[in-house]
Amino acid sequence: MDGKNTSRLVIVSNRLPLKLEKKEGKWEVTPSSGGLVSALNPILKNRGGIWIGWTGTTEHIGTDVLRQILGPASREAGYRMFPVMLSAEEVSKYYYGFSNEVLWPLFHDLQSHCNFEPEYWNYYRQVNEKFARAVSRYSREEDFIWVHDYQLISVASKLKKLKVKRRSVFFLHIPFPSLDIFLKLPWRTDLLKDFLEYDFIAFQTARDRRNFVDCLRAMFRGTRTKGRGPIVTVHCMDRKIKVGEMPISIDYRSFTRLAASEEVKDLLKEQRKRLHKNTVILGVDRLDYTKGIPERLRAYQMALRKYPELRENITLVQIVVPSREEVPAYKALRERIEQLVSAINGEFTTPGWVPVHYMHKSVTKTELVSLYRLADIALVTPLKDGMNLVAKEYCACQIDNKGVLILSEFAGSAAQMQKDAVMVNSYDIEGIADAIYNAVYMQPREKHDRMRRLRRDIRRRDVFWWVDNYLRAATGRALVDFPESEMAPILHAIQPQGPRQKNRGFGYEAAEKDIRS
Ligand code: UDP
Ligand code: G6P
Repeated sequence: MDGKNTSRLVIVSNRLPLKLEKKEGKWEVTPSSGGLVSALNPILKNRGGIWIGWTGTTEHIGTDVLRQILGPASREAGYRMFPVMLSAEEVSKYYYGFSNEVLWPLFHDLQSHCNFEPEYWNYYRQVNEKFARAVSRYSREEDFIWVHDYQLISVASKLKKLKVKRRSVFFLHIPFPSLDIFLKLPWRTDLLKDFLEYDFIAFQTARDRRNFVDCLRAMFRGTRTKGRGPIVTVHCMDRKIKVGEMPISIDYRSFTRLAASEEVKDLLKEQRKRLHKNTVILGVDRLDYTKGIPERLRAYQMALRKYPELRENITLVQIVVPSREEVPAYKALRERIEQLVSAINGEFTTPGWVPVHYMHKSVTKTELVSLYRLADIALVTPLKDGMNLVAKEYCACQIDNKGVLILSEFAGSAAQMQKDAVMVNSYDIEGIADAIYNAVYMQPREKHDRMRRLRRDIRRRDVFWWVDNYLRAATGRALVDFPESEMAPILHAIQPQGPRQKNRGFGYEAAEKDIRS
Protein backbone atom coordinates (compact mmCIF):
# COMPACT_ATOMS: atom_id res chain seq x y z
CA MET A 1 0.00 0.00 0.00
CA ASP A 2 1.09 3.62 0.27
CA GLY A 3 2.98 3.05 3.55
CA LYS A 4 1.26 6.06 5.20
CA ASN A 5 -1.58 4.01 6.57
CA THR A 6 -4.25 6.52 5.62
CA SER A 7 -6.32 4.26 3.45
CA ARG A 8 -9.87 3.53 4.46
CA LEU A 9 -11.88 0.37 4.01
CA VAL A 10 -14.61 0.89 1.41
CA ILE A 11 -17.18 -1.87 1.00
CA VAL A 12 -19.13 -1.89 -2.24
CA SER A 13 -22.13 -4.19 -2.57
CA ASN A 14 -25.37 -4.15 -4.50
CA ARG A 15 -27.36 -3.36 -1.37
CA LEU A 16 -26.70 -1.12 1.57
CA PRO A 17 -27.28 -2.86 4.92
CA LEU A 18 -30.61 -1.07 5.10
CA LYS A 19 -33.40 -0.63 2.63
CA LEU A 20 -35.71 2.30 2.07
CA GLU A 21 -39.35 1.83 1.21
CA LYS A 22 -42.06 4.43 0.74
CA LYS A 23 -45.28 3.42 2.50
CA GLU A 24 -48.32 5.69 2.50
CA GLY A 25 -46.14 8.65 1.61
CA LYS A 26 -43.60 8.02 4.39
CA TRP A 27 -40.11 6.55 4.13
CA GLU A 28 -39.58 3.38 6.10
CA VAL A 29 -36.12 2.01 6.80
CA THR A 30 -35.62 -1.70 7.47
CA PRO A 31 -32.50 -3.90 7.66
CA SER A 32 -31.58 -5.74 4.46
CA SER A 33 -31.85 -9.54 4.58
CA GLY A 34 -29.34 -12.18 3.58
CA GLY A 35 -25.92 -13.48 4.45
CA LEU A 36 -23.81 -10.77 2.81
CA VAL A 37 -25.19 -8.02 5.02
CA SER A 38 -25.20 -10.20 8.18
CA ALA A 39 -21.53 -11.04 7.69
CA LEU A 40 -20.18 -7.64 6.67
CA ASN A 41 -22.10 -5.44 9.09
CA PRO A 42 -20.10 -6.47 12.20
CA ILE A 43 -16.84 -5.77 10.36
CA LEU A 44 -17.48 -2.08 9.79
CA LYS A 45 -19.70 -1.59 12.83
CA ASN A 46 -18.31 1.14 15.05
CA ARG A 47 -14.98 1.13 13.19
CA GLY A 48 -15.68 3.79 10.63
CA GLY A 49 -15.16 3.06 6.96
CA ILE A 50 -17.56 3.42 4.08
CA TRP A 51 -20.29 1.27 2.59
CA ILE A 52 -21.52 2.08 -0.92
CA GLY A 53 -24.68 0.37 -2.18
CA TRP A 54 -28.17 0.65 -3.61
CA THR A 55 -30.93 1.99 -1.36
CA GLY A 56 -33.36 -0.77 -2.33
CA THR A 57 -35.89 1.63 -3.89
CA THR A 58 -36.49 3.06 -7.35
CA GLU A 59 -38.44 6.04 -6.03
CA HIS A 60 -36.82 9.43 -6.25
CA ILE A 61 -35.31 10.51 -2.93
CA GLY A 62 -34.32 14.11 -2.43
CA THR A 63 -31.00 15.11 -0.90
CA ASP A 64 -32.63 16.31 2.30
CA VAL A 65 -34.46 13.04 2.83
CA LEU A 66 -31.29 11.08 2.10
CA ARG A 67 -29.41 13.12 4.64
CA GLN A 68 -32.20 12.72 7.20
CA ILE A 69 -32.24 8.95 6.76
CA LEU A 70 -28.65 7.95 6.02
CA GLY A 71 -27.08 10.46 8.39
CA PRO A 72 -28.54 9.02 11.62
CA ALA A 73 -28.29 5.48 10.20
CA SER A 74 -24.56 6.00 9.57
CA ARG A 75 -24.11 7.44 13.04
CA GLU A 76 -25.88 4.48 14.61
CA ALA A 77 -23.95 1.95 12.51
CA GLY A 78 -20.61 3.62 13.15
CA TYR A 79 -19.62 3.91 9.48
CA ARG A 80 -20.72 6.03 6.55
CA MET A 81 -23.28 4.80 4.05
CA PHE A 82 -23.35 6.25 0.56
CA PRO A 83 -26.26 5.49 -1.73
CA VAL A 84 -26.36 4.43 -5.35
CA MET A 85 -29.72 5.25 -6.91
CA LEU A 86 -31.19 2.93 -9.52
CA SER A 87 -34.09 3.56 -11.88
CA ALA A 88 -36.95 1.09 -12.26
CA GLU A 89 -35.53 -0.04 -15.59
CA GLU A 90 -32.07 -0.62 -14.13
CA VAL A 91 -33.51 -2.62 -11.26
CA SER A 92 -35.59 -4.67 -13.64
CA LYS A 93 -32.74 -5.46 -16.05
CA TYR A 94 -29.56 -5.32 -14.00
CA TYR A 95 -30.82 -6.61 -10.63
CA TYR A 96 -33.79 -8.85 -11.39
CA GLY A 97 -32.54 -9.52 -14.91
CA PHE A 98 -28.84 -10.19 -15.30
CA SER A 99 -28.00 -10.65 -11.63
CA ASN A 100 -30.94 -12.80 -10.61
CA GLU A 101 -32.18 -14.43 -13.81
CA VAL A 102 -28.75 -15.17 -15.28
CA LEU A 103 -25.82 -15.22 -12.85
CA TRP A 104 -27.68 -16.40 -9.72
CA PRO A 105 -29.27 -19.53 -11.26
CA LEU A 106 -26.27 -20.34 -13.48
CA PHE A 107 -23.76 -20.09 -10.65
CA HIS A 108 -26.03 -22.31 -8.52
CA ASP A 109 -26.06 -25.01 -11.27
CA LEU A 110 -29.74 -24.33 -12.03
CA GLN A 111 -29.51 -23.34 -15.66
CA SER A 112 -33.16 -24.27 -16.29
CA HIS A 113 -34.02 -21.06 -14.37
CA CYS A 114 -31.78 -18.88 -16.60
CA ASN A 115 -33.13 -16.25 -18.94
CA PHE A 116 -30.23 -15.18 -21.20
CA GLU A 117 -31.95 -12.00 -22.39
CA PRO A 118 -29.34 -10.03 -24.42
CA GLU A 119 -30.27 -6.57 -23.13
CA TYR A 120 -29.73 -7.66 -19.52
CA TRP A 121 -25.98 -7.77 -20.13
CA ASN A 122 -25.85 -4.15 -21.34
CA TYR A 123 -27.73 -2.98 -18.26
CA TYR A 124 -25.44 -5.02 -16.03
CA ARG A 125 -22.38 -3.30 -17.48
CA GLN A 126 -24.02 0.15 -17.33
CA VAL A 127 -25.03 -0.22 -13.69
CA ASN A 128 -21.59 -1.56 -12.79
CA GLU A 129 -20.24 1.64 -14.33
CA LYS A 130 -22.61 3.64 -12.16
CA PHE A 131 -21.22 1.89 -9.09
CA ALA A 132 -17.68 2.61 -10.36
CA ARG A 133 -18.59 6.30 -10.58
CA ALA A 134 -19.89 6.18 -7.02
CA VAL A 135 -16.60 4.59 -5.92
CA SER A 136 -14.71 7.36 -7.67
CA ARG A 137 -16.87 10.00 -6.00
CA TYR A 138 -16.86 8.70 -2.45
CA SER A 139 -13.33 7.30 -2.12
CA ARG A 140 -9.75 8.45 -2.44
CA GLU A 141 -6.93 6.94 -4.43
CA GLU A 142 -5.24 5.42 -1.37
CA ASP A 143 -8.44 3.73 -0.13
CA PHE A 144 -8.92 0.03 -0.26
CA ILE A 145 -11.96 -0.87 -2.37
CA TRP A 146 -13.58 -4.17 -1.50
CA VAL A 147 -16.27 -5.16 -4.00
CA HIS A 148 -18.74 -7.90 -3.08
CA ASP A 149 -20.69 -10.48 -4.99
CA TYR A 150 -22.03 -11.45 -8.38
CA GLN A 151 -24.00 -8.25 -9.03
CA LEU A 152 -20.80 -6.19 -9.28
CA ILE A 153 -18.15 -8.31 -11.03
CA SER A 154 -17.47 -5.60 -13.63
CA VAL A 155 -16.78 -2.69 -11.25
CA ALA A 156 -12.96 -2.93 -11.47
CA SER A 157 -13.02 -3.00 -15.25
CA LYS A 158 -15.32 0.04 -15.25
CA LEU A 159 -12.99 1.90 -12.87
CA LYS A 160 -10.22 1.23 -15.37
CA LYS A 161 -12.38 2.44 -18.25
CA LEU A 162 -13.14 5.64 -16.32
CA LYS A 163 -9.41 6.01 -15.58
CA VAL A 164 -10.09 6.00 -11.86
CA LYS A 165 -7.05 4.63 -10.03
CA ARG A 166 -8.06 2.42 -7.13
CA ARG A 167 -6.76 -0.73 -5.52
CA SER A 168 -9.74 -3.06 -5.77
CA VAL A 169 -10.36 -6.62 -4.65
CA PHE A 170 -13.37 -8.88 -4.92
CA PHE A 171 -15.18 -11.56 -2.92
CA LEU A 172 -17.76 -13.88 -4.46
CA HIS A 173 -20.35 -14.92 -1.87
CA ILE A 174 -22.06 -17.46 -4.12
CA PRO A 175 -20.61 -20.62 -5.71
CA PHE A 176 -18.56 -20.51 -8.92
CA PRO A 177 -19.86 -23.16 -11.34
CA SER A 178 -17.90 -25.88 -13.11
CA LEU A 179 -16.57 -25.29 -16.62
CA ASP A 180 -19.36 -27.12 -18.47
CA ILE A 181 -21.98 -24.92 -16.79
CA PHE A 182 -20.04 -21.64 -17.04
CA LEU A 183 -19.54 -22.17 -20.77
CA LYS A 184 -23.29 -21.77 -21.29
CA LEU A 185 -23.03 -18.06 -20.47
CA PRO A 186 -23.16 -16.03 -23.70
CA TRP A 187 -20.92 -13.34 -22.14
CA ARG A 188 -18.44 -15.78 -20.60
CA THR A 189 -15.26 -14.26 -22.09
CA ASP A 190 -16.03 -10.67 -21.14
CA LEU A 191 -17.15 -11.65 -17.65
CA LEU A 192 -13.96 -13.63 -16.99
CA LYS A 193 -11.88 -10.71 -18.25
CA ASP A 194 -13.73 -8.45 -15.81
CA PHE A 195 -12.80 -10.75 -12.92
CA LEU A 196 -9.16 -10.39 -13.94
CA GLU A 197 -9.22 -6.61 -13.41
CA TYR A 198 -9.16 -7.07 -9.62
CA ASP A 199 -5.83 -7.46 -7.81
CA PHE A 200 -7.22 -10.18 -5.60
CA ILE A 201 -10.29 -12.40 -5.87
CA ALA A 202 -11.52 -14.83 -3.26
CA PHE A 203 -14.10 -17.60 -3.29
CA GLN A 204 -15.91 -19.44 -0.51
CA THR A 205 -14.44 -22.91 -1.06
CA ALA A 206 -11.58 -24.79 -2.73
CA ARG A 207 -14.08 -26.17 -5.24
CA ASP A 208 -15.25 -22.70 -6.32
CA ARG A 209 -11.68 -21.55 -6.78
CA ARG A 210 -10.78 -24.66 -8.75
CA ASN A 211 -13.79 -24.14 -11.02
CA PHE A 212 -12.76 -20.53 -11.65
CA VAL A 213 -9.17 -21.43 -12.48
CA ASP A 214 -10.37 -24.28 -14.74
CA CYS A 215 -12.49 -21.75 -16.66
CA LEU A 216 -9.52 -19.39 -17.05
CA ARG A 217 -7.35 -22.25 -18.31
CA ALA A 218 -9.99 -23.39 -20.77
CA MET A 219 -10.74 -19.93 -22.11
CA PHE A 220 -7.34 -18.24 -22.10
CA ARG A 221 -4.40 -20.15 -23.46
CA GLY A 222 -1.22 -19.96 -21.41
CA THR A 223 -2.93 -19.41 -18.03
CA ARG A 224 -0.54 -20.52 -15.27
CA THR A 225 -0.97 -20.83 -11.51
CA LYS A 226 1.80 -20.65 -8.93
CA GLY A 227 1.75 -21.54 -5.27
CA ARG A 228 -0.21 -23.88 -3.01
CA GLY A 229 -2.56 -23.47 -0.08
CA PRO A 230 -5.44 -21.05 0.29
CA ILE A 231 -3.91 -18.33 -1.93
CA VAL A 232 -2.39 -18.94 -5.36
CA THR A 233 -1.05 -16.56 -7.99
CA VAL A 234 -2.62 -16.74 -11.43
CA HIS A 235 -0.92 -15.46 -14.57
CA CYS A 236 -3.52 -14.98 -17.26
CA MET A 237 -3.38 -12.82 -20.39
CA ASP A 238 -1.26 -9.87 -19.30
CA ARG A 239 -2.54 -9.99 -15.72
CA LYS A 240 -1.08 -11.42 -12.54
CA ILE A 241 -3.60 -11.73 -9.73
CA LYS A 242 -3.95 -13.55 -6.44
CA VAL A 243 -6.85 -15.96 -6.11
CA GLY A 244 -7.95 -17.23 -2.71
CA GLU A 245 -10.25 -19.68 -1.01
CA MET A 246 -11.73 -18.02 2.11
CA PRO A 247 -14.89 -19.34 3.78
CA ILE A 248 -16.91 -16.47 5.22
CA SER A 249 -18.30 -16.73 8.75
CA ILE A 250 -20.36 -14.99 11.43
CA ASP A 251 -19.82 -12.76 14.44
CA TYR A 252 -19.87 -15.79 16.77
CA ARG A 253 -19.63 -13.85 20.02
CA SER A 254 -22.49 -11.51 19.24
CA PHE A 255 -24.74 -14.53 18.59
CA THR A 256 -23.72 -16.40 21.78
CA ARG A 257 -24.12 -13.21 23.82
CA LEU A 258 -27.60 -12.58 22.50
CA ALA A 259 -28.52 -16.27 22.92
CA ALA A 260 -27.63 -16.03 26.63
CA SER A 261 -29.41 -12.69 27.16
CA GLU A 262 -32.44 -12.15 29.39
CA GLU A 263 -34.61 -10.95 26.50
CA VAL A 264 -33.96 -14.18 24.58
CA LYS A 265 -34.58 -16.27 27.71
CA ASP A 266 -37.99 -14.59 28.18
CA LEU A 267 -38.96 -15.06 24.56
CA LEU A 268 -37.79 -18.66 24.64
CA LYS A 269 -40.03 -19.42 27.61
CA GLU A 270 -43.03 -18.05 25.69
CA GLN A 271 -42.17 -20.01 22.54
CA ARG A 272 -41.61 -23.26 24.50
CA LYS A 273 -44.99 -22.90 26.18
CA ARG A 274 -46.71 -22.53 22.82
CA LEU A 275 -45.01 -25.56 21.26
CA HIS A 276 -45.52 -27.81 24.32
CA LYS A 277 -42.71 -30.30 24.74
CA ASN A 278 -42.33 -31.21 21.09
CA THR A 279 -39.00 -31.67 19.35
CA VAL A 280 -38.66 -28.49 17.31
CA ILE A 281 -37.13 -28.61 13.84
CA LEU A 282 -36.22 -25.24 12.32
CA GLY A 283 -35.73 -24.02 8.76
CA VAL A 284 -34.72 -20.39 8.06
CA ASP A 285 -34.26 -19.31 4.46
CA ARG A 286 -34.83 -16.49 2.04
CA LEU A 287 -37.60 -17.54 -0.31
CA ASP A 288 -35.23 -18.88 -2.95
CA TYR A 289 -35.29 -21.96 -5.18
CA THR A 290 -31.65 -22.70 -4.29
CA LYS A 291 -32.64 -23.38 -0.68
CA GLY A 292 -34.43 -26.68 -1.35
CA ILE A 293 -37.53 -25.75 0.67
CA PRO A 294 -40.06 -27.91 -1.24
CA GLU A 295 -37.71 -30.92 -1.06
CA ARG A 296 -37.34 -30.33 2.69
CA LEU A 297 -41.11 -30.14 3.21
CA ARG A 298 -41.60 -33.34 1.25
CA ALA A 299 -38.93 -35.01 3.37
CA TYR A 300 -40.71 -33.90 6.55
CA GLN A 301 -43.98 -35.25 5.16
CA MET A 302 -42.26 -38.55 4.35
CA ALA A 303 -40.79 -38.75 7.86
CA LEU A 304 -44.29 -38.35 9.34
CA ARG A 305 -45.64 -41.02 7.00
CA LYS A 306 -42.79 -43.49 7.46
CA TYR A 307 -42.30 -43.06 11.22
CA PRO A 308 -45.76 -42.67 12.85
CA GLU A 309 -44.12 -42.36 16.27
CA LEU A 310 -42.93 -38.90 15.22
CA ARG A 311 -46.50 -37.60 14.85
CA GLU A 312 -47.58 -35.19 17.57
CA ASN A 313 -44.01 -35.28 18.91
CA ILE A 314 -42.22 -33.05 16.40
CA THR A 315 -42.99 -29.62 14.97
CA LEU A 316 -41.38 -27.94 11.98
CA VAL A 317 -41.00 -24.15 12.23
CA GLN A 318 -40.20 -22.82 8.76
CA ILE A 319 -39.36 -19.14 8.28
CA VAL A 320 -39.31 -17.97 4.70
CA VAL A 321 -37.98 -14.43 4.26
CA PRO A 322 -39.52 -12.66 1.23
CA SER A 323 -36.98 -12.15 -1.56
CA ARG A 324 -36.78 -11.03 -5.24
CA GLU A 325 -40.54 -11.13 -5.58
CA GLU A 326 -40.54 -9.78 -9.15
CA VAL A 327 -38.74 -12.81 -10.58
CA PRO A 328 -41.33 -15.29 -11.92
CA ALA A 329 -39.54 -18.37 -10.51
CA TYR A 330 -39.72 -16.88 -7.00
CA LYS A 331 -43.46 -16.24 -7.27
CA ALA A 332 -44.07 -19.82 -8.41
CA LEU A 333 -41.92 -21.13 -5.56
CA ARG A 334 -43.99 -19.35 -2.95
CA GLU A 335 -47.16 -20.98 -4.26
CA ARG A 336 -45.50 -24.40 -4.28
CA ILE A 337 -44.27 -24.00 -0.69
CA GLU A 338 -47.66 -22.83 0.55
CA GLN A 339 -49.42 -25.74 -1.18
CA LEU A 340 -47.05 -28.21 0.46
CA VAL A 341 -47.43 -26.66 3.91
CA SER A 342 -51.19 -26.81 3.66
CA ALA A 343 -51.09 -30.40 2.32
CA ILE A 344 -48.93 -31.55 5.26
CA ASN A 345 -51.02 -29.72 7.83
CA GLY A 346 -54.20 -31.05 6.19
CA GLU A 347 -52.91 -34.63 6.32
CA PHE A 348 -51.53 -34.73 9.86
CA THR A 349 -52.96 -31.97 12.09
CA THR A 350 -54.77 -33.22 15.21
CA PRO A 351 -56.51 -31.18 17.92
CA GLY A 352 -53.67 -29.42 19.74
CA TRP A 353 -50.92 -30.24 17.20
CA VAL A 354 -50.00 -28.47 13.95
CA PRO A 355 -47.06 -30.18 12.20
CA VAL A 356 -45.75 -27.13 10.27
CA HIS A 357 -45.62 -23.56 11.58
CA TYR A 358 -44.96 -21.49 8.47
CA MET A 359 -43.96 -17.81 8.50
CA HIS A 360 -43.51 -15.79 5.32
CA LYS A 361 -41.81 -12.70 6.79
CA SER A 362 -38.58 -11.32 8.23
CA VAL A 363 -37.99 -11.73 11.94
CA THR A 364 -35.92 -9.56 14.28
CA LYS A 365 -32.50 -10.76 15.36
CA THR A 366 -33.78 -11.42 18.89
CA GLU A 367 -36.66 -13.54 17.57
CA LEU A 368 -34.30 -15.40 15.27
CA VAL A 369 -31.78 -16.15 18.01
CA SER A 370 -34.55 -17.31 20.31
CA LEU A 371 -35.80 -19.69 17.59
CA TYR A 372 -32.25 -20.96 17.06
CA ARG A 373 -32.07 -21.73 20.79
CA LEU A 374 -35.50 -23.29 20.81
CA ALA A 375 -34.78 -25.64 17.91
CA ASP A 376 -33.62 -29.17 18.72
CA ILE A 377 -32.76 -29.71 15.07
CA ALA A 378 -31.87 -27.27 12.26
CA LEU A 379 -32.70 -28.41 8.75
CA VAL A 380 -30.31 -26.63 6.38
CA THR A 381 -30.79 -28.33 3.04
CA PRO A 382 -29.97 -26.02 0.13
CA LEU A 383 -29.64 -27.55 -3.34
CA LYS A 384 -26.53 -25.40 -3.65
CA ASP A 385 -25.26 -22.51 -1.50
CA GLY A 386 -22.14 -20.35 -1.42
CA MET A 387 -21.75 -20.85 2.35
CA ASN A 388 -25.05 -20.75 4.30
CA LEU A 389 -24.65 -18.70 7.41
CA VAL A 390 -27.85 -19.98 9.01
CA ALA A 391 -25.98 -23.25 9.68
CA LYS A 392 -23.25 -21.37 11.56
CA GLU A 393 -25.63 -19.02 13.39
CA TYR A 394 -27.72 -21.98 14.60
CA CYS A 395 -24.65 -23.68 16.10
CA ALA A 396 -23.39 -20.45 17.69
CA CYS A 397 -26.73 -20.12 19.51
CA GLN A 398 -26.70 -23.70 20.84
CA ILE A 399 -25.12 -22.52 24.06
CA ASP A 400 -26.21 -25.76 25.82
CA ASN A 401 -24.68 -27.90 23.03
CA LYS A 402 -27.98 -29.75 22.65
CA GLY A 403 -29.01 -29.25 19.03
CA VAL A 404 -28.37 -31.29 15.90
CA LEU A 405 -27.50 -29.72 12.55
CA ILE A 406 -28.75 -31.53 9.46
CA LEU A 407 -26.75 -30.06 6.58
CA SER A 408 -26.74 -30.39 2.82
CA GLU A 409 -23.58 -31.69 1.15
CA PHE A 410 -24.06 -28.87 -1.37
CA ALA A 411 -23.73 -25.95 1.06
CA GLY A 412 -20.31 -24.26 1.11
CA SER A 413 -20.36 -24.67 4.91
CA ALA A 414 -20.24 -28.47 4.43
CA ALA A 415 -16.51 -28.20 3.74
CA GLN A 416 -15.98 -27.09 7.36
CA MET A 417 -18.91 -28.76 9.14
CA GLN A 418 -19.31 -32.18 7.51
CA LYS A 419 -17.59 -34.13 10.27
CA ASP A 420 -20.04 -33.17 12.98
CA ALA A 421 -23.25 -32.24 11.17
CA VAL A 422 -25.63 -34.95 9.94
CA MET A 423 -24.96 -34.74 6.22
CA VAL A 424 -27.66 -35.23 3.58
CA ASN A 425 -28.02 -35.07 -0.18
CA SER A 426 -30.65 -32.34 -0.40
CA TYR A 427 -32.25 -34.00 -3.46
CA ASP A 428 -32.70 -37.28 -1.56
CA ILE A 429 -36.10 -36.90 0.07
CA GLU A 430 -36.12 -40.28 1.79
CA GLY A 431 -32.52 -39.72 2.96
CA ILE A 432 -33.55 -36.44 4.64
CA ALA A 433 -36.61 -38.13 6.20
CA ASP A 434 -34.32 -40.79 7.72
CA ALA A 435 -31.87 -38.09 8.89
CA ILE A 436 -34.76 -36.34 10.71
CA TYR A 437 -35.70 -39.59 12.43
CA ASN A 438 -32.08 -40.32 13.42
CA ALA A 439 -31.57 -36.78 14.69
CA VAL A 440 -34.71 -36.96 16.87
CA TYR A 441 -33.44 -40.14 18.52
CA MET A 442 -29.72 -39.28 18.66
CA GLN A 443 -28.20 -39.90 22.09
CA PRO A 444 -27.68 -36.72 24.15
CA ARG A 445 -23.94 -37.49 24.54
CA GLU A 446 -23.43 -37.71 20.78
CA LYS A 447 -25.42 -34.51 20.20
CA HIS A 448 -23.36 -32.73 22.80
CA ASP A 449 -20.00 -33.85 21.39
CA ARG A 450 -20.88 -33.00 17.82
CA MET A 451 -22.27 -29.58 18.69
CA ARG A 452 -19.35 -28.72 20.93
CA ARG A 453 -16.89 -29.42 18.11
CA LEU A 454 -18.98 -27.50 15.57
CA ARG A 455 -19.12 -24.49 17.87
CA ARG A 456 -15.42 -24.61 18.67
CA ASP A 457 -14.58 -24.42 14.99
CA ILE A 458 -16.95 -21.52 14.28
CA ARG A 459 -15.59 -19.66 17.31
CA ARG A 460 -12.03 -20.05 16.02
CA ARG A 461 -12.88 -19.17 12.48
CA ASP A 462 -15.38 -16.37 12.94
CA VAL A 463 -15.96 -13.41 10.64
CA PHE A 464 -13.07 -11.44 12.19
CA TRP A 465 -10.71 -14.32 11.44
CA TRP A 466 -12.07 -14.27 7.89
CA VAL A 467 -11.67 -10.54 7.38
CA ASP A 468 -8.13 -10.53 8.80
CA ASN A 469 -7.09 -13.37 6.52
CA TYR A 470 -8.70 -11.66 3.59
CA LEU A 471 -7.15 -8.26 4.23
CA ARG A 472 -3.71 -9.76 4.97
CA ALA A 473 -3.76 -11.69 1.71
CA ALA A 474 -5.03 -8.70 -0.23
CA THR A 475 -3.15 -5.82 1.38
CA GLY A 476 -0.66 -7.23 3.87
CA ARG A 477 -2.69 -5.53 6.65
CA ALA A 478 -5.23 -6.75 9.18
CA LEU A 479 -8.52 -5.06 10.12
CA VAL A 480 -6.96 -3.27 13.10
CA ASP A 481 -4.37 -1.76 10.75
CA PHE A 482 -7.12 0.31 9.17
CA PRO A 483 -7.10 2.87 11.98
CA GLU A 484 -10.51 3.96 13.13
CA SER A 485 -9.51 7.59 13.43
CA GLU A 486 -8.44 7.64 9.82
CA MET A 487 -11.68 6.21 8.58
CA ALA A 488 -14.33 8.48 7.10
CA PRO A 489 -15.41 11.08 9.64
CA ILE A 490 -18.97 10.12 10.43
CA LEU A 491 -19.92 13.64 11.41
CA HIS A 492 -19.89 14.73 7.77
CA ALA A 493 -22.72 12.37 7.07
CA ILE A 494 -25.01 13.94 9.60
CA GLN A 495 -24.15 17.58 9.18
CA PRO A 496 -25.70 19.65 6.44
CA GLN A 497 -23.37 19.72 3.45
CA GLY A 498 -21.34 22.92 3.37
CA PRO A 499 -20.33 24.59 0.12
CA ARG A 500 -16.83 23.10 0.28
CA GLN A 501 -18.17 19.60 0.41
CA LYS A 502 -20.63 20.37 -2.34
CA ASN A 503 -17.82 21.45 -4.62
CA ARG A 504 -15.94 18.28 -3.91
CA GLY A 505 -19.07 16.32 -4.77
CA PHE A 506 -18.72 14.56 -1.44
CA GLY A 507 -22.32 14.71 -0.36
CA TYR A 508 -25.65 13.16 -1.16
CA GLU A 509 -26.37 15.76 -3.89
CA ALA A 510 -24.23 13.74 -6.24
CA ALA A 511 -26.20 10.60 -5.49
CA GLU A 512 -29.44 12.39 -6.21
CA LYS A 513 -28.13 13.47 -9.61
CA ASP A 514 -27.08 9.92 -10.34
CA ILE A 515 -30.59 8.68 -10.91
CA ARG A 516 -30.97 11.06 -13.81
CA SER A 517 -27.67 10.07 -15.45
N1 UDP B 1 -31.90 -13.45 8.20
C1 UDP B 1 -32.40 -12.22 7.86
N2 UDP B 1 -33.72 -11.95 8.12
C2 UDP B 1 -34.54 -12.87 8.67
C3 UDP B 1 -34.03 -14.14 8.99
C4 UDP B 1 -32.70 -14.40 8.74
O1 UDP B 1 -31.66 -11.35 7.36
O2 UDP B 1 -35.72 -12.59 8.88
C5 UDP B 1 -30.46 -13.67 7.95
C6 UDP B 1 -29.83 -14.79 8.73
O3 UDP B 1 -29.54 -14.35 10.04
C7 UDP B 1 -28.59 -15.09 7.88
C8 UDP B 1 -29.02 -14.66 6.49
O4 UDP B 1 -30.29 -14.04 6.61
O5 UDP B 1 -27.50 -14.30 8.30
C9 UDP B 1 -29.11 -15.80 5.53
O6 UDP B 1 -27.81 -16.06 5.11
P1 UDP B 1 -27.43 -17.38 4.34
O7 UDP B 1 -25.97 -17.35 4.11
O8 UDP B 1 -27.92 -18.57 5.08
O9 UDP B 1 -28.25 -17.31 2.97
P2 UDP B 1 -28.51 -16.11 1.92
O10 UDP B 1 -29.84 -15.55 2.25
O11 UDP B 1 -27.41 -15.16 2.05
O12 UDP B 1 -28.55 -16.80 0.59
C1 G6P C 1 -27.33 -13.65 -1.06
C2 G6P C 1 -26.43 -12.90 -2.02
C3 G6P C 1 -26.34 -11.45 -1.62
C4 G6P C 1 -27.73 -10.85 -1.50
C5 G6P C 1 -28.59 -11.67 -0.55
C6 G6P C 1 -30.02 -11.16 -0.47
O1 G6P C 1 -26.73 -13.63 0.18
O2 G6P C 1 -25.15 -13.53 -2.02
O3 G6P C 1 -25.58 -10.72 -2.55
O4 G6P C 1 -27.67 -9.51 -1.03
O5 G6P C 1 -28.62 -13.01 -1.00
O6 G6P C 1 -30.59 -11.05 -1.73
P1 G6P C 1 -31.11 -9.66 -2.34
O7 G6P C 1 -31.31 -9.94 -3.79
O8 G6P C 1 -32.36 -9.37 -1.59
O9 G6P C 1 -30.07 -8.63 -2.09
